[in-house]
Amino acid sequence: MSKYDFDAVIERRGTISAKWDGMEPLFGTNDLFPMWIADMDFKAPPEILETLQERIDHGVLGYTRRFEPYREAVASWMERRHGWRPDTEWIRHTPGVVPALAVSMLAFTQPGDGILVQPPVYYPFFAAITGRGRRVVENPLAFDGERFWMDFEDLERKLDDSSVKMAFLCSPHNPGGRVWTREELEKFAALCAARGIIVISDEIHCDVLFHGAKHTPLADVSEEIAQLTISTVAPSKTFNVAGLATAAVIIPSKRLRDNYQSVVDFLHIDGGNVFGTIGLEAAYRHGDAWLDELTVYLEKNLEYIDQFLAERLPGIKLVKPDGTYVPLLDCRTLNMSGPDLEKLFVEKGGVALDGGHWFGTGGTGFARINIATPRSLLKEGLERIERAVKSLG
Ligand SMILES: Cc1ncc(COP(=O)(O)O)c(C=O)c1O
Repeated sequence: MSKYDFDAVIERRGTISAKWDGMEPLFGTNDLFPMWIADMDFKAPPEILETLQERIDHGVLGYTRRFEPYREAVASWMERRHGWRPDTEWIRHTPGVVPALAVSMLAFTQPGDGILVQPPVYYPFFAAITGRGRRVVENPLAFDGERFWMDFEDLERKLDDSSVKMAFLCSPHNPGGRVWTREELEKFAALCAARGIIVISDEIHCDVLFHGAKHTPLADVSEEIAQLTISTVAPSKTFNVAGLATAAVIIPSKRLRDNYQSVVDFLHIDGGNVFGTIGLEAAYRHGDAWLDELTVYLEKNLEYIDQFLAERLPGIKLVKPDGTYVPLLDCRTLNMSGPDLEKLFVEKGGVALDGGHWFGTGGTGFARINIATPRSLLKEGLERIERAVKSLG
């Protein structure tokens, strides 16, 4: 018997939702069915909402601090779900994962330095790098028609350039859907550690794992890479609480930690907000059962998409993800440019998908779909995609 209702359709229009109300700047109109951006159409777990409600009822929303039980909640979540227990002393705050990337870049690199990324990848990485004059160095993923892989030969070549000082690892990979295996991460870690490359390991998607896939925290791979790693985790994707703008950064090295903290203190962004603080703790203490049920629901959504495409749109293939709820649709048989494909979905289907080309090299011909939605909405989204593709005749 399921305890949570993921089939419930909740009206999100008119709630200042980025996904539902904020499409116009990107797609030219808000009159679309949104299957883009990475938040879910489900209510957050009642275990979190009750904690927030208690604080509302208390009624005082003054300055807040994070104490040891907060850090303990992060550490024990990582241990319970991912088999790696960070020391609570290593845990720092960030209002989001992207701000942590930016802070780390400011703390550890200089203008002109290269930062390695593995496209097609979460597009805000690019702006974070170039926004303060660092250079994007690409190590594109390879795609074999079914799955994405790291290209280690190219990675080694790129890291041999002494101007490359840092890497942004996306693990699990968005939008590639890969949950990197320990073996893959060992290779990646060894190449970075040998050259003293600092790795920002964006593990925001580490909790949504399908069919028994196992996430390996990068810092758990070796002591050498742990000393060079800044890991970011958050309840935002996992429990649909991105609006709480609260995430955790885990930094085993004291030197890196102190440096990171000095930039955070300078920017004066350590305060956090009361709802994010208590929300994160409640999520990591009480969210297991909800997440387990969510995962089963999402696995069924994946099956639904696969079957829908096979029966009605055999030209389009789901790139089956090991984890994350924002997989790619392989639309390369349509032979369209990125902008043309995006336009097709918007104009002929009235559906908003993240354009594959937004994710950089290797993304053209794909579209990213958000599957974290009730099945009835998923069906509507897929029917719109079908309408768009069939309009090509
Ligand atoms: C890989 C990845 N990193 C970071 C973020 C966003 O993080 P935040 O909202 O905490 O800045 C996302 C959101 O989709 C993401 O997919």
